[in-house]
Amino acid sequence: MAAPVVDAKYLKEIETARRDLRAFIYNKKCAPIMLRLAFHDAGTYDAKTKTGGPNGSIRNEEEYNRDANSGLKIAIDFCETVKVKHPKISYADLYQLAGVVAVEVTGGPTIDFVPGRKDIMVSPEEGRLPDAKQGASHLREIFYRMGLSDKDIVALSGGHTLGGAHKDRSCFQGAWTNEPWKFDNSYFVELLKEAKVPLKEDELLKLPTDRALVDDPKFRYYVERYAKDEEAFFTDYAASHKKLSELGFTPTCSVSNRATKNNILVQSAVAVAVATAVMILSYFYEVHQRVE
Ligand code: HEM
Repeated sequence: MAAPVVDAKYLKEIETARRDLRAFIYNKKCAPIMLRLAFHDAGTYDAKTKTGGPNGSIRNEEEYNRDANSGLKIAIDFCETVKVKHPKISYADLYQLAGVVAVEVTGGPTIDFVPGRKDIMVSPEEGRLPDAKQGASHLREIFYRMGLSDKDIVALSGGHTLGGAHKDRSCFQGAWTNEPWKFDNSYFVELLKEAKVPLKEDELLKLPTDRALVDDPKFRYYVERYAKDEEAFFTDYAASHKKLSELGFTPTCSVSNRATKNNILVQSAVAVAVATAVMILSYFYEVHQRVE
Protein backbone atom coordinates (compact mmCIF):
# COMPACT_ATOMS: atom_id res chain seq x y z
CA MET A 1 0.00 0.00 0.00
CA ALA A 2 1.26 3.49 -0.83
CA ALA A 3 1.92 6.04 1.90
CA PRO A 4 -0.93 8.51 2.35
CA VAL A 5 -0.48 11.87 0.64
CA VAL A 6 0.00 14.34 3.46
CA ASP A 7 -1.68 17.40 2.01
CA ALA A 8 -3.78 20.08 3.73
CA LYS A 9 -6.87 17.83 3.57
CA TYR A 10 -5.06 14.93 5.24
CA LEU A 11 -3.73 17.22 7.96
CA LYS A 12 -7.24 18.54 8.60
CA GLU A 13 -8.54 14.98 8.84
CA ILE A 14 -5.79 14.16 11.35
CA GLU A 15 -6.86 17.12 13.49
CA THR A 16 -10.52 16.01 13.46
CA ALA A 17 -9.51 12.41 14.23
CA ARG A 18 -7.37 13.71 17.08
CA ARG A 19 -10.42 15.47 18.57
CA ASP A 20 -12.55 12.33 18.10
CA LEU A 21 -9.87 10.21 19.78
CA ARG A 22 -9.64 12.64 22.69
CA ALA A 23 -13.38 12.39 23.36
CA PHE A 24 -13.45 8.62 22.77
CA ILE A 25 -10.47 7.80 25.00
CA TYR A 26 -11.75 10.09 27.73
CA ASN A 27 -15.26 8.60 27.67
CA LYS A 28 -14.18 4.96 27.41
CA LYS A 29 -11.29 5.36 29.86
CA CYS A 30 -9.21 3.32 27.47
CA ALA A 31 -5.95 5.34 27.42
CA PRO A 32 -3.81 2.45 28.77
CA ILE A 33 -4.81 -0.09 26.14
CA MET A 34 -4.55 2.50 23.33
CA LEU A 35 -1.00 3.32 24.43
CA ARG A 36 -0.15 -0.38 24.59
CA LEU A 37 -1.54 -0.84 21.07
CA ALA A 38 0.66 1.97 19.74
CA PHE A 39 3.71 0.38 21.39
CA HIS A 40 2.96 -3.11 20.09
CA ASP A 41 2.47 -1.92 16.51
CA ALA A 42 5.71 0.12 16.56
CA GLY A 43 7.80 -2.14 18.81
CA THR A 44 8.34 -4.86 16.21
CA TYR A 45 10.77 -2.69 14.27
CA ASP A 46 14.08 -4.18 13.21
CA ALA A 47 16.55 -1.48 12.22
CA LYS A 48 18.79 -3.92 10.31
CA THR A 49 16.18 -5.37 7.98
CA LYS A 50 13.97 -2.26 8.16
CA THR A 51 10.93 -4.47 8.76
CA GLY A 52 8.11 -4.20 11.29
CA GLY A 53 7.45 -0.90 13.05
CA PRO A 54 4.46 1.44 13.14
CA ASN A 55 2.76 0.20 9.98
CA GLY A 56 -0.66 -0.98 11.16
CA SER A 57 0.18 -4.65 10.65
CA ILE A 58 -1.11 -5.45 14.15
CA ARG A 59 -4.62 -5.39 12.66
CA ASN A 60 -3.80 -8.71 10.98
CA GLU A 61 -5.66 -11.47 12.77
CA GLU A 62 -2.53 -13.58 12.79
CA GLU A 63 -0.58 -10.82 14.56
CA TYR A 64 -3.12 -9.62 17.12
CA ASN A 65 -3.84 -13.22 18.12
CA ARG A 66 -0.26 -13.73 19.28
CA ASP A 67 0.20 -14.13 23.05
CA ALA A 68 2.19 -10.90 23.34
CA ASN A 69 -0.77 -8.96 21.89
CA SER A 70 -3.43 -10.58 24.02
CA GLY A 71 -6.29 -8.17 24.68
CA LEU A 72 -5.26 -5.66 22.03
CA LYS A 73 -8.13 -6.56 19.70
CA ILE A 74 -10.22 -4.35 22.00
CA ALA A 75 -8.06 -1.33 21.14
CA ILE A 76 -8.00 -2.26 17.44
CA ASP A 77 -11.82 -2.28 17.42
CA PHE A 78 -11.92 1.04 19.29
CA CYS A 79 -9.68 2.57 16.63
CA GLU A 80 -11.90 1.12 13.92
CA THR A 81 -14.79 3.30 15.13
CA VAL A 82 -12.62 6.35 14.44
CA LYS A 83 -11.27 4.92 11.16
CA VAL A 84 -14.83 4.58 9.82
CA LYS A 85 -15.26 8.34 10.24
CA HIS A 86 -11.83 9.11 8.76
CA PRO A 87 -11.19 6.43 6.11
CA LYS A 88 -8.37 8.42 4.51
CA ILE A 89 -6.14 8.14 7.56
CA SER A 90 -3.84 5.13 7.48
CA TYR A 91 -4.16 2.58 10.27
CA ALA A 92 -0.49 3.12 11.01
CA ASP A 93 -1.08 6.85 11.62
CA LEU A 94 -4.30 6.19 13.53
CA TYR A 95 -2.72 3.75 16.02
CA GLN A 96 0.18 6.11 16.67
CA LEU A 97 -2.13 9.10 16.99
CA ALA A 98 -4.19 7.11 19.52
CA GLY A 99 -1.01 6.50 21.54
CA VAL A 100 -0.08 10.17 21.52
CA VAL A 101 -3.61 11.24 22.50
CA ALA A 102 -3.73 8.59 25.28
CA VAL A 103 -0.69 10.20 26.91
CA GLU A 104 -2.06 13.69 26.39
CA VAL A 105 -5.57 13.13 27.82
CA THR A 106 -4.20 11.48 30.95
CA GLY A 107 -2.03 14.49 31.76
CA GLY A 108 1.24 13.44 30.13
CA PRO A 109 3.54 15.48 27.91
CA THR A 110 2.60 16.68 24.44
CA ILE A 111 4.25 14.45 21.86
CA ASP A 112 5.02 15.81 18.43
CA PHE A 113 2.99 13.82 15.91
CA VAL A 114 3.96 13.74 12.24
CA PRO A 115 1.55 11.88 9.93
CA GLY A 116 2.21 9.94 6.72
CA ARG A 117 2.87 6.34 7.81
CA LYS A 118 2.26 3.66 5.27
CA ASP A 119 0.01 0.67 6.00
CA ILE A 120 1.53 -2.76 5.51
CA MET A 121 -0.38 -6.03 5.61
CA VAL A 122 2.66 -8.25 6.17
CA SER A 123 3.31 -9.08 9.80
CA PRO A 124 6.85 -9.54 11.08
CA GLU A 125 7.77 -12.89 12.60
CA GLU A 126 6.62 -13.54 16.17
CA GLY A 127 8.93 -12.82 19.12
CA ARG A 128 10.00 -9.23 18.47
CA LEU A 129 8.20 -7.69 21.47
CA PRO A 130 9.68 -7.72 24.99
CA ASP A 131 9.07 -10.71 27.23
CA ALA A 132 8.15 -9.50 30.73
CA LYS A 133 9.67 -12.58 32.35
CA GLN A 134 13.21 -11.71 31.29
CA GLY A 135 15.86 -9.26 32.47
CA ALA A 136 18.07 -6.34 31.46
CA SER A 137 20.00 -8.07 28.67
CA HIS A 138 16.77 -9.12 26.98
CA LEU A 139 15.41 -5.56 27.21
CA ARG A 140 18.58 -4.27 25.58
CA GLU A 141 18.47 -6.90 22.86
CA ILE A 142 14.86 -6.00 21.97
CA PHE A 143 15.15 -2.21 22.14
CA TYR A 144 18.63 -1.96 20.60
CA ARG A 145 17.26 -3.97 17.66
CA MET A 146 14.77 -1.13 17.16
CA GLY A 147 17.65 1.36 17.28
CA LEU A 148 16.70 2.70 20.72
CA SER A 149 18.94 3.41 23.73
CA ASP A 150 19.07 2.67 27.48
CA LYS A 151 17.51 6.07 28.13
CA ASP A 152 14.67 5.26 25.70
CA ILE A 153 14.09 1.90 27.43
CA VAL A 154 13.66 3.50 30.85
CA ALA A 155 11.71 6.55 29.68
CA LEU A 156 9.32 4.43 27.61
CA SER A 157 8.84 1.95 30.45
CA GLY A 158 7.35 4.93 32.29
CA GLY A 159 4.31 4.29 30.06
CA HIS A 160 3.43 1.73 32.73
CA THR A 161 2.29 4.66 34.83
CA LEU A 162 -1.00 3.99 33.00
CA GLY A 163 -3.21 0.93 33.39
CA GLY A 164 -2.05 -2.44 34.59
CA ALA A 165 -1.79 -6.14 33.88
CA HIS A 166 -4.70 -8.53 33.51
CA LYS A 167 -4.26 -12.20 34.41
CA ASP A 168 -6.37 -13.29 31.46
CA ARG A 169 -4.13 -11.38 29.01
CA SER A 170 -0.65 -11.84 30.48
CA CYS A 171 0.07 -13.96 33.53
CA PHE A 172 0.43 -10.80 35.59
CA GLN A 173 -2.13 -8.81 37.54
CA GLY A 174 -2.44 -5.33 38.98
CA ALA A 175 -1.61 -1.69 38.38
CA TRP A 176 1.86 -0.23 38.77
CA THR A 177 0.69 2.92 40.48
CA ASN A 178 -2.10 4.14 42.73
CA GLU A 179 -3.55 6.34 39.99
CA PRO A 180 -3.46 4.26 36.79
CA TRP A 181 -5.47 6.87 34.84
CA LYS A 182 -2.92 9.59 35.43
CA PHE A 183 0.25 9.93 33.37
CA ASP A 184 2.96 11.05 35.78
CA ASN A 185 6.31 9.85 37.15
CA SER A 186 4.79 7.67 39.90
CA TYR A 187 5.85 4.46 38.11
CA PHE A 188 9.47 5.33 38.95
CA VAL A 189 8.65 6.43 42.49
CA GLU A 190 6.88 3.09 43.09
CA LEU A 191 9.74 1.12 41.50
CA LEU A 192 12.25 2.58 43.94
CA LYS A 193 9.93 2.13 46.93
CA GLU A 194 9.22 -1.48 46.07
CA ALA A 195 12.83 -2.27 45.23
CA LYS A 196 13.63 -1.80 48.92
CA VAL A 197 11.41 -4.70 49.98
CA PRO A 198 11.47 -8.31 48.79
CA LEU A 199 8.79 -9.18 46.20
CA LYS A 200 5.62 -10.71 47.61
CA GLU A 201 2.60 -12.20 45.86
CA ASP A 202 0.08 -9.54 44.88
CA GLU A 203 2.43 -6.58 45.14
CA LEU A 204 2.25 -3.68 42.71
CA LEU A 205 5.63 -4.33 41.12
CA LYS A 206 4.93 -7.32 38.95
CA LEU A 207 7.22 -7.77 35.99
CA PRO A 208 10.80 -9.07 36.19
CA THR A 209 11.57 -6.46 33.50
CA ASP A 210 10.45 -3.73 35.95
CA ARG A 211 12.86 -5.15 38.53
CA ALA A 212 15.63 -5.12 35.92
CA LEU A 213 15.29 -1.33 35.68
CA VAL A 214 16.27 -0.91 39.32
CA ASP A 215 18.83 -3.72 39.46
CA ASP A 216 20.84 -2.63 36.40
CA PRO A 217 23.00 0.41 37.35
CA LYS A 218 22.70 2.09 33.93
CA PHE A 219 18.92 1.78 33.92
CA ARG A 220 18.72 2.74 37.59
CA TYR A 221 20.43 6.05 36.92
CA TYR A 222 17.41 7.10 34.80
CA VAL A 223 14.87 5.55 37.19
CA GLU A 224 16.24 7.69 40.03
CA ARG A 225 16.37 10.77 37.85
CA TYR A 226 12.76 10.39 36.68
CA ALA A 227 11.50 9.57 40.19
CA LYS A 228 13.03 12.83 41.42
CA ASP A 229 12.19 15.06 38.49
CA GLU A 230 8.90 14.68 36.64
CA GLU A 231 9.77 17.39 34.17
CA ALA A 232 12.93 15.53 33.12
CA PHE A 233 10.82 12.40 32.68
CA PHE A 234 8.21 14.22 30.56
CA THR A 235 10.88 15.76 28.32
CA ASP A 236 12.68 12.45 27.76
CA TYR A 237 9.45 10.48 27.45
CA ALA A 238 8.10 12.79 24.74
CA ALA A 239 11.35 12.46 22.76
CA SER A 240 11.52 8.65 23.14
CA HIS A 241 7.85 8.19 22.31
CA LYS A 242 8.26 10.25 19.16
CA LYS A 243 11.22 8.07 18.16
CA LEU A 244 9.23 4.90 18.84
CA SER A 245 6.28 6.18 16.82
CA GLU A 246 8.52 7.02 13.87
CA LEU A 247 10.68 3.88 13.67
CA GLY A 248 11.42 3.21 10.01
CA PHE A 249 9.31 6.19 8.96
CA THR A 250 10.69 9.15 7.08
CA PRO A 251 8.20 12.00 7.26
CA THR A 252 7.55 13.79 3.98
CA CYS A 253 5.95 16.80 5.61
CA SER A 254 6.07 18.10 9.13
CA VAL A 255 3.69 20.74 10.29
CA SER A 256 5.62 21.20 13.48
CA ASN A 257 8.90 21.44 11.56
CA ARG A 258 7.33 24.12 9.46
CA ALA A 259 6.14 25.87 12.62
CA THR A 260 9.65 25.56 14.06
CA LYS A 261 11.16 27.11 10.90
CA ASN A 262 8.64 29.97 11.09
CA ASN A 263 9.55 30.50 14.75
CA ILE A 264 13.23 30.64 13.86
CA LEU A 265 12.50 33.21 11.12
CA VAL A 266 10.48 35.38 13.54
CA GLN A 267 13.18 35.08 16.21
CA SER A 268 15.89 36.07 13.71
CA ALA A 269 13.86 39.08 12.56
CA VAL A 270 13.40 40.20 16.18
CA ALA A 271 17.14 39.76 16.87
CA VAL A 272 18.06 41.89 13.81
CA ALA A 273 15.56 44.59 14.85
CA VAL A 274 16.94 44.69 18.41
CA ALA A 275 20.55 44.85 17.16
CA THR A 276 19.67 47.72 14.78
CA ALA A 277 17.88 49.62 17.56
CA VAL A 278 20.91 49.21 19.86
CA MET A 279 23.25 50.51 17.12
CA ILE A 280 21.05 53.55 16.43
CA LEU A 281 20.72 54.35 20.15
CA SER A 282 24.46 54.08 20.76
CA TYR A 283 25.09 56.34 17.75
CA PHE A 284 22.75 59.02 19.16
CA TYR A 285 24.26 58.59 22.60
CA GLU A 286 27.75 59.18 21.21
CA VAL A 287 26.64 62.22 19.20
CA HIS A 288 24.90 63.57 22.31
CA GLN A 289 28.09 63.07 24.39
CA ARG A 290 30.19 64.87 21.78
CA VAL A 291 27.80 67.86 21.61
CA GLU A 292 27.99 68.17 25.45
C1 HEM B 1 9.95 -2.59 28.54
C2 HEM B 1 9.36 -3.69 28.10
C3 HEM B 1 7.89 -3.94 28.31
C4 HEM B 1 7.34 -5.08 28.78
C5 HEM B 1 8.06 -6.36 29.14
C6 HEM B 1 5.91 -4.86 28.87
C7 HEM B 1 4.99 -5.78 29.29
C8 HEM B 1 3.67 -5.51 29.59
C9 HEM B 1 2.74 -6.45 30.16
C10 HEM B 1 3.03 -7.92 30.49
C11 HEM B 1 1.57 -5.80 30.34
C12 HEM B 1 0.29 -6.36 30.90
C13 HEM B 1 -0.70 -6.66 29.80
C14 HEM B 1 -2.03 -7.11 30.35
O1 HEM B 1 -2.04 -8.08 31.11
O2 HEM B 1 -3.06 -6.47 30.04
C15 HEM B 1 1.77 -4.44 29.88
C16 HEM B 1 0.80 -3.48 29.94
C17 HEM B 1 0.98 -2.21 29.48
N1 HEM B 1 2.07 -1.74 28.77
FE1 HEM B 1 3.85 -2.65 28.63
N2 HEM B 1 5.64 -3.59 28.46
C18 HEM B 1 6.82 -2.99 28.08
C19 HEM B 1 6.98 -1.72 27.56
C20 HEM B 1 5.94 -0.84 27.35
C21 HEM B 1 6.06 0.42 26.65
C22 HEM B 1 7.34 0.91 25.98
C23 HEM B 1 4.84 1.01 26.69
C24 HEM B 1 4.41 2.33 26.12
C25 HEM B 1 5.20 3.36 25.92
C26 HEM B 1 3.95 0.13 27.43
C27 HEM B 1 2.65 0.40 27.73
C28 HEM B 1 1.82 -0.43 28.45
C29 HEM B 1 0.53 -0.03 28.97
C30 HEM B 1 -0.07 1.36 28.90
C31 HEM B 1 0.00 -1.15 29.62
C32 HEM B 1 -1.33 -1.25 30.35
C33 HEM B 1 -2.39 -1.79 29.43
C34 HEM B 1 -3.76 -1.92 30.06
O3 HEM B 1 -3.97 -1.49 31.19
O4 HEM B 1 -4.64 -2.46 29.37
N3 HEM B 1 4.65 -0.98 27.78
N4 HEM B 1 3.06 -4.30 29.44
